Amino acid sequence: MTKAAPAPREMLILGIETSCDETAAAVVAGGRRVLSSAIASQVADHRPYGGVVPEIAGRKHLENLVPIVQAALADAGVQPADLAAVAVTSSPGLMGALLVGTSFGKALAMGWGVPLVEVNHLHAHALAIYLGDRRPRLPYLALVVSGGHTTLFQVSSALDLRILGETRDDAAGECIDKVAKFLGLDYPGGPEIDRLAAGGNPSAVRFTRGLAHAATLDFSFSGLKTAVVNHVLGTSRLNGPLNHQQTPSLPERELRDLAASFQEAIVDTLIGKTLRAARAHGLATVVVSGGVAANGRLREKMTSAGEGAGIRVLFPGRELCTDNAAMIAGAAWHLARKKRYSGLDLRPSARMKTGAC
Ligand code: KG4
Ligand code: ZN
Repeated sequence: MTKAAPAPREMLILGIETSCDETAAAVVAGGRRVLSSAIASQVADHRPYGGVVPEIAGRKHLENLVPIVQAALADAGVQPADLAAVAVTSSPGLMGALLVGTSFGKALAMGWGVPLVEVNHLHAHALAIYLGDRRPRLPYLALVVSGGHTTLFQVSSALDLRILGETRDDAAGECIDKVAKFLGLDYPGGPEIDRLAAGGNPSAVRFTRGLAHAATLDFSFSGLKTAVVNHVLGTSRLNGPLNHQQTPSLPERELRDLAASFQEAIVDTLIGKTLRAARAHGLATVVVSGGVAANGRLREKMTSAGEGAGIRVLFPGRELCTDNAAMIAGAAWHLARKKRYSGLDLRPSARMKTGAC
């Protein structure tokens, strides 16, 4: 007897995410219910270098994918035959890392005889809010703020995302990670800055808020990075010149105030542009997602700024903000229910593919 195809609402999708330094696999039912979410972090592999080494990332994905996919299926209690599709991140990201994930996804789709769905990583971050019980009112504004991107999308539907603004230079997370590295903090810098800033004074140093007064909805963070470096070099009690490989050893109090002031500049810049975009496009709901959306101060200050402006601000849970595969499987559901599958000739792209979803 042939098995009846599941109703779209119940479709089970295996998501695979390898765009950067997390190898992740997850099973999501009906685009919302996360049955499993397995992640192999490569933080320990990249930490000695103070940042992601693309070559190492690709090799680690190769090692991690089989056990991570097995874990995702086992945790969900799902067999390959139960799956309606296999979804892979195809752009944007590190080319070698994407190649490993997309090749693996293609092999699974072919071997198991299930359709393949390609997912844009940034769209998946913007749609991560659908995982769980929340129902964001469409259209909404999504701020995707991560290590690689700082982008504002108008989300008119899960299949219709339009860029309203993006960074002209560094991503917010990249700026945070580089400043943290300069300050001699552990990699990745975001959680470290978050932790240190909690005990510091955010008004201690007034750092630049890039493009704050410009009408554009674009961001700029490279000037802020330079401002922190110049501030530290200017006030440092070190003897002689400091090269950027050295760690300035600041007293604990000063380090906390610096972290809090720097974080405040990032948070204020993100809030300013996001609220400007919401007002300019008449959007009453804002969704903030991506790794930097795990930041405690951003969550608190964006929420209260939204309340003051009559805008509803939603954040996915912290574990769904940083890279994961549940968001890939969730985003893929919207494509799979319209049968928007990819061929096995799918090619990943390091840059943002237009019209991927
Ligand atoms: O989305 P994600 O996991 O990977 C990319 O697609 O880039 O984002 C990683 C970024 C890193 O820059 C990391 O330092 C930052 O998110 N991050 C944070 C926090 N947790 C992660 N930034 C600020 N505060 C945090 N708590
Ligand atoms: Zn990401």
